[in-house]
Amino acid sequence: MITSQTSLAADMKQKLADAYAAIRSQAPWSHPKSPEISHHRVLPHATYSPWLLDEGFQTVFQHIRNHTLVDIYRCYELWTLGQQLSHVPGNYLEVGVWRGGTGALLASTVKDNAAKHVYLADTFQGVVKAGGADTVYVGGEHADTSSALVSDLLKGLGLSNFTLLEGIFPEQTASGFQGKLALLHCDVDVYSSAKDVVEWGIPLLSSGGCIVFDDYGFSGCEGVTKLVNALRSDKGFLFIHNLNGHAILIKK
Ligand SMILES: C[S@@+](CC[C@H](N)C(=O)[O-])C[C@H]1O[C@@H](n2cnc3c(N)ncnc32)[C@H](O)[C@@H]1O
Repeated sequence: MITSQTSLAADMKQKLADAYAAIRSQAPWSHPKSPEISHHRVLPHATYSPWLLDEGFQTVFQHIRNHTLVDIYRCYELWTLGQQLSHVPGNYLEVGVWRGGTGALLASTVKDNAAKHVYLADTFQGVVKAGGADTVYVGGEHADTSSALVSDLLKGLGLSNFTLLEGIFPEQTASGFQGKLALLHCDVDVYSSAKDVVEWGIPLLSSGGCIVFDDYGFSGCEGVTKLVNALRSDKGFLFIHNLNGHAILIKK
């Protein structure tokens, strides 16, 4: 019995090792426009998955999962950051809302916090400002949404702590944002939009506040990776490259 269990465990270990090796054997690649940004399959070996038993998160995630392009790993990170930053002075802002999934998640984390308001900014007409630093986006992607659809999603969660900012951020809608910033979720896919958003946001960010970049390290979002790599040496921030595809800047 012990022998067969031991050989079963060894067999399983070998199968896992083979699976990891197969994934790792894929050759690294880079886009010809951004050869300095190298890609390779990222497969951390850790397995702890607290999101599975977090009932509060699961309830909201089931409600929003068909309204987001963001995977459960990044969604859970936004969920925990939204909770942790509730004591940092300022409001939350997401630029790049699409159908509202991650915005609804963030708003849920401060649902009962009268000191926090959540601003959700999108053109609701798709990506803008794609340019030479971007490898795949050309503009107009993710236009299959509307502000009404997002508003209904959040109201379905009993949320009223949000304001939608419809138009190009920052030039057309930043005047609708009030207060300091505790959390900025930048999910705009392309270099120039992300640059304009963070240049607007950094002066408003409270100490201890965070900028979370989606798109960091994704194949096709090299423009955002390029921008974050230029910001990461800024001495005013701690920088975390989370292997899930988030880059996080924490203001000292
Ligand atoms: C990948 S989607 C956002 C995904 C969303 N966070 C989710 O939960 O799936 C990117 C969005 O950014 C928006 N966007 C890009 N640049 C923008 C800008 N400068 N101002 C407003 N919205 C912008 C696009 O309209 C698009 O809906």
